[in-house]
Amino acid sequence: FSADFLKDTINNLLEKDENPISIALSGGNTPMPILNILKEEDLDWNRISFYMVDERCVSTSDSQCNYNNINEVFFSKIPSKSYSMIVEGNSYKECAEHYQLLLENNLNKSSHGIPEFDLILLGMGEDGHTASLFPNTNALKEKVNSVVLNEVPQLSTHRITISYPVILASKNVIVLFTGEKKEEIVEEIYLNKGTSYPINKIVQEHSNIKWIIG
Ligand code: 6PG
Repeated sequence: FSADFLKDTINNLLEKDENPISIALSGGNTPMPILNILKEEDLDWNRISFYMVDERCVSTSDSQCNYNNINEVFFSKIPSKSYSMIVEGNSYKECAEHYQLLLENNLNKSSHGIPEFDLILLGMGEDGHTASLFPNTNALKEKVNSVVLNEVPQLSTHRITISYPVILASKNVIVLFTGEKKEEIVEEIYLNKGTSYPINKIVQEHSNIKWIIG
């Protein structure tokens, strides 16, 4: 069902627009089975460009690398263009800056001058993070940059992530989630008890957010 929903959403976007469309994908485990099904679908893949929502600070050949994992299951099986956040030889800060420039060059701009995706597919963590916007981290405050290097002390690491302004500017947002704990978070958010979860800001401020169970 989730893969069908995603396929129909992408097909609708392709039908509405004669131009190429841009989609950002999250890493993590939840999207993998769906992408594995989606790759078999007869979509106009040449008109789609895929980008990353966030990335771990590791090399592109590392098993933790979101791009690498999605590439194995999905990008390498379809003719679409796809763009990794990690460029070997660059510092992670440079990778974030480079990706921001890439988005600015390749995507249309919203009325606020922010790169505008046609669709962003988000995941969610059990602490309410989405993309690599983790609770109490600096990236939550980002208002200007589209892509930032975020220190995540609770994981003793850094992540590269798109910022709230980019997520809020996207024409469509889908959150893919699975498991009881995440269902509770969604419930808390809609009952207005989950206001401190990073994903809550998107629920409050984006007018076209859909949830699908992975
Ligand atoms: C990542 C992500 C992250 C992810 C959630 C959920 O790099 O891990 O992009 O935001 O979507 O952590 O991850 P799971 O799907 O593995 O539960």
